[in-house]
Amino acid sequence: MTTRQMKLAAFCAAGPVSGHHGGWRYPGAVRDFTQAATYLETARLLEQGCFDLMFIADILAIPNRLDGSMDSQLRYGALGAMRLDPLIVLAMLAGVTRNLGLAATISTSYAEPFQLARQVASLDHLSAGRAAWNIVTSFQDAEARNFSPRDQLSHEARYDRADEFMDVVCKLWNSWADGAMTLDPAAPLFADPASVHPIDHHGAYFDVAGPMNVPRPPQGRPIFIQAGASERGRDFAAKWTDIVFVTHASLESGIAFYKDMKRRAASFGRDPAELVILPGIAPVMGETTEIATARKTLLDSLADPQAGLSTLAYHLDIDLAQFPQDEVLPAMDVPGVQGHYKEVAELTQKQGLSLAEVGRRYGSGSGRFVVGTADAIADRMEEWFTKGAADGFMIQPPYLQGGIELPVRLLVPELQKRGLFRSAYEGPMLRDQLGLPRPKGP
Ligand SMILES: Cc1cc2nc3c(=O)[nH]c(=O)nc-3n(C[C@H](O)[C@H](O)[C@H](O)COP(=O)(O)O)c2cc1C
Repeated sequence: MTTRQMKLAAFCAAGPVSGHHGGWRYPGAVRDFTQAATYLETARLLEQGCFDLMFIADILAIPNRLDGSMDSQLRYGALGAMRLDPLIVLAMLAGVTRNLGLAATISTSYAEPFQLARQVASLDHLSAGRAAWNIVTSFQDAEARNFSPRDQLSHEARYDRADEFMDVVCKLWNSWADGAMTLDPAAPLFADPASVHPIDHHGAYFDVAGPMNVPRPPQGRPIFIQAGASERGRDFAAKWTDIVFVTHASLESGIAFYKDMKRRAASFGRDPAELVILPGIAPVMGETTEIATARKTLLDSLADPQAGLSTLAYHLDIDLAQFPQDEVLPAMDVPGVQGHYKEVAELTQKQGLSLAEVGRRYGSGSGRFVVGTADAIADRMEEWFTKGAADGFMIQPPYLQGGIELPVRLLVPELQKRGLFRSAYEGPMLRDQLGLPRPKGP
């Protein structure tokens, strides 16, 4: 009998901050966010630890939601202070890794289907089947103003566009049959014209003739990841995606979300086991509990409360400077990320936290932090995994490279000892690690 094992992804950014707003200031932390060597080293470590994938988050603007200014983001190196383009970083990593999945965040609201299908198919070819796409719909005015037309679509319209976007890119990836590129010099037959077809898509948002000028990707199509938490977002994820990434403030909300998403996947006629749910966890580790606690205290002292508040304002798409900082954040409808609002609302309600305190905790990873030895962190992960809240985890490193190096050196062996994680890659493609079948071609 094969035992169920966890999937592990690393939540990275091609810029500062992944797990902690104090991370880039941590003594000895890598701060060369524009240097190739930084990402090469992260990928090398992750592959050494048999991680399923390296996920690169993204933002298409410097957020300015706190007091209408981007100063707090820039000054404190908060979430959106700078970001290199994830696809370019991952293309570079494709050449120096062999098994690690490579996941780029790209927005359906600002990309064009043809361009995205071609770029991600290229990454899948160059990595021999390791490409993944984190599908985001975007929610910030600051992002909309960097593209033309400059206004954001409504929440519903963003998901309508995303649904049609998926339809188009899937048609494009299938516009070449498997094996269409015959490369027969004698015939000659470079590619078989009978196996390459236009798609002639005409819809509400897109008119795309096709075919693509890249053969069908090795994985059939790349792996899809999504983190929408609104009703519409959950249905979108249940219908289209392979991996759902989510953040929770408690095990109870984790279990409820997991059940809900598996039920939704089944309602779309899918095998629920083929929807992989990865809650975020931000471990601050040490060889002893004392070392880990001291590390966390130091990290927290380096994260200015305004940094967390600035990122929370961006995530909720609400100017939090308008509310009293020493009072509880009132319940409200937020236009931004529903998943982040749910996490913060749960913290606020349960513990009656002031807005300033919520900001401080948000910048320090809120409920996702687990501080302790590898043993203690593995206990927490095992509990979530066995109690039906997770199929694995998205590990958010609090700083580089220690936030990656410690889990690889200490946590992965502990999980392996418990039989909860692989000791070698299952196969060459990302689909092989995730245990997902390759979609049939045309
Ligand atoms: C944990 C998590 C990580 C996310 N990462 C990104 C990101 O890197 N870039 C981005 O534009 N949106 C990101 N989002 C936003 C969503 O993927 C989604 O586009 C947005 O939440 C709107 O969907 P919703 O209204 O269904 O929540 C993230 C959301 C969550 C919960």
